[in-house]
Amino acid sequence: MADYRGECHCGARSNGRPLRVSPSSNMGAEALPYGPFFSTHGSISMSAKRIDGKAKAEQLAESITEQTAALLADHGIKPGLAVVIIGEDPASQVYVRNKKRRAEACGFHSVQHTIAKDTSQEDVLKLIDELNSDDAIHGILVQLPLPDHLDEQTITQAISPSKDVDGFHFVNIGKLTAGHTADAFVPCTPAGCILMIEDELGSDFSSLNAVVIGRSNIVGKPMGALLLQRNATVTMTHSRTKDLPGVVRNADIVIAAVGRPDMVKADWVKPGAVVIDVGINRVEKEIDGEMKSKLTGDVDYDDVCTVAGAVTPVPGGVGPMTITMLMFNTLRSARLSAGLEG
Ligand code: GUN
Repeated sequence: MADYRGECHCGARSNGRPLRVSPSSNMGAEALPYGPFFSTHGSISMSAKRIDGKAKAEQLAESITEQTAALLADHGIKPGLAVVIIGEDPASQVYVRNKKRRAEACGFHSVQHTIAKDTSQEDVLKLIDELNSDDAIHGILVQLPLPDHLDEQTITQAISPSKDVDGFHFVNIGKLTAGHTADAFVPCTPAGCILMIEDELGSDFSSLNAVVIGRSNIVGKPMGALLLQRNATVTMTHSRTKDLPGVVRNADIVIAAVGRPDMVKADWVKPGAVVIDVGINRVEKEIDGEMKSKLTGDVDYDDVCTVAGAVTPVPGGVGPMTITMLMFNTLRSARLSAGLEG
């Protein structure tokens, strides 16, 4: 595992599909491997490839499980992941349960600390100190969001950079921004997104335009750094961007990470573009005449599929990859701590 892309970096442009010579009416689509490119803007309709994040995550998890067994057999090291959850936020409880299950399935030593909502910052920092000094723990994650009385920055920066499998410590952010990812932990969601994009487009995004919608520290900013590292021309957009649809229409790669249900529509998307939907929004939708609660992304999937080359669904796209990248980072941390990488 030379870098965080690990074994799932495919490298083959367009999964072996030949590059298309696209019709001249589709300006700028030449660089992309999908087609036909008329869809709603012409006479031929297309349906985008559904990027199956769940299948890819399973495949990657299998490889992590095998490497975990080998690390134990060859070096007596079992990767250890500690997840700290403060309070009872129902969504956070689901995420943490899934992380614990996945860690156990990979063969990790998996520890969960569930602590009361009103725990003092001093006590949370004490727990983090203990975990920092625990040799059986290679990765520490404090589930966000935190209760209001706790300072997110103080807590995330208290985790040792060498156990910061979330990639939120300033040391890891600095390394990523400087393009020094050989021994950095990259935040899990963008790391998973980049693997899915690489499967579609190869690992060099020279001459491609990438637009990131959303500038969060967890997704938008590290995503921009990873795209730039692969030579994309990156535009970061946010709530104050002028003519967002016009900017997005210029993108060969779109990352939507704003938390606005179904915001990105077909007429925002360049024909053939690769669209990655990071949004997870719970909405009430009418299904078969009944109002039902449903998860939806930031991209109007059915609409965008008529124009894009490939799109991630919600659920089943970015989410499973995020959890698996946490396992990837934890395995990597165990290997780095034993001098087997870096
Ligand atoms: N809450 C939502 N996403 C994340 C994540 O990636 N890491 C942590 N620690 N908390 C989260």
